[in-house]
Amino acid sequence: MAPSPTPPAAPEAEFSPAVLAQLRRLQARYAADNQDLAAYLEGLYHADYVNYWDYIQLDTLLSLQRPLTKFPDEKIFIIYHQITELYFKLCLHEYEQLGELQEPTLGEVVLRLGRVNRYFENLIDSFDVMVDGMEKEQFLQFRMSLMPASGFQSVQYRFIELASTALENLVPAEKRRLLGDAPTHEEFMGCIYWQAGATVEDTGAKALTLVEFERKYTGELVAHARQYEHRNAWAVVQRLPEADRHHPRLLRALKQLDVNVNVNWPLMHYKSAVRYLQRDPTDVPATGGTNWRNYLPPKFQRRIFYPQLWSAQELEEWGKGWVDKVLEELG
Ligand code: HEM
Repeated sequence: MAPSPTPPAAPEAEFSPAVLAQLRRLQARYAADNQDLAAYLEGLYHADYVNYWDYIQLDTLLSLQRPLTKFPDEKIFIIYHQITELYFKLCLHEYEQLGELQEPTLGEVVLRLGRVNRYFENLIDSFDVMVDGMEKEQFLQFRMSLMPASGFQSVQYRFIELASTALENLVPAEKRRLLGDAPTHEEFMGCIYWQAGATVEDTGAKALTLVEFERKYTGELVAHARQYEHRNAWAVVQRLPEADRHHPRLLRALKQLDVNVNVNWPLMHYKSAVRYLQRDPTDVPATGGTNWRNYLPPKFQRRIFYPQLWSAQELEEWGKGWVDKVLEELG
């Protein structure tokens, strides 16, 4: 039998017009960089399909939950902290984009603030995973193996605060008065409100939790404060056209943020501290004897991002009604 003739080269017509158009675009793009399109197509030929598990790095993600004890509920504690940190990361992603706006529009600012609010509301709604979702007996035992670690050491939480408002609003009024006319970032950071937390209840000395946190993050926090001086949400709002600065949608978003970050999340969090740590006549020692009962409630902390937006009475009653209601619920 005669050998079959070599098949003719595939005619160009085998490619659809759409494919040919894409090839021409690619050719032009690679030619602009003096690159050989054929070599890149060879690479494409060998490339794998993108799969879900690779794309989101599922194996790595699921390898990051490593309890230090044998108590099953410790895993819940780790995972919920990780979920929270991922939400914090989403918030910071919005603050970064917000801070870059030199000539913001009302729509852009409300959109970014709205996203941060949505993330915080998800966290507030899901905090029951902590409040009701672990056995107290297990918690009290595994928590002892984790000292002096505390969510207090979450640097992303602090970055969110620094990206939300002017630095002076994070310094208690009585300390601000002592700082003189033009305090440096370092001076502000030296008396920032969280210096009053994670201190030993009996002596007022810094607990190891705070000492370690400062050792690791002081430099980064000062740099972040400096970076966000003109990029924090309030500074960006001041760059809006005058009329937009008083727009009800904007005011609602800012006030909601203030309440979400400074009242509602702290209260849900406080509820979990009360549920696991409060024991009459003294608290359980799982925090290393810190002053959390006097520090955490928003009515004592009085952290307020946008004091300009609240009435004198609202400022006076900051967090009060809510705290009492939460404590009533706990009985
Ligand atoms: C059962 C669950 C929890 C308990 C009992 C608890 C307890 C505490 C306590 C006692 C403090 C005060 C600082 C200290 O004395 O160590 C604190 C601070 C803090 N915790 Fe938690 N926590 C819980 C869950 C969480 C979670 C899931 C997060 C998420 C990241 C978190 C983030 C924080 C933050 C950011 C602070 C500092 C708050 C501030 O400075 O106002 N905590 N926590």
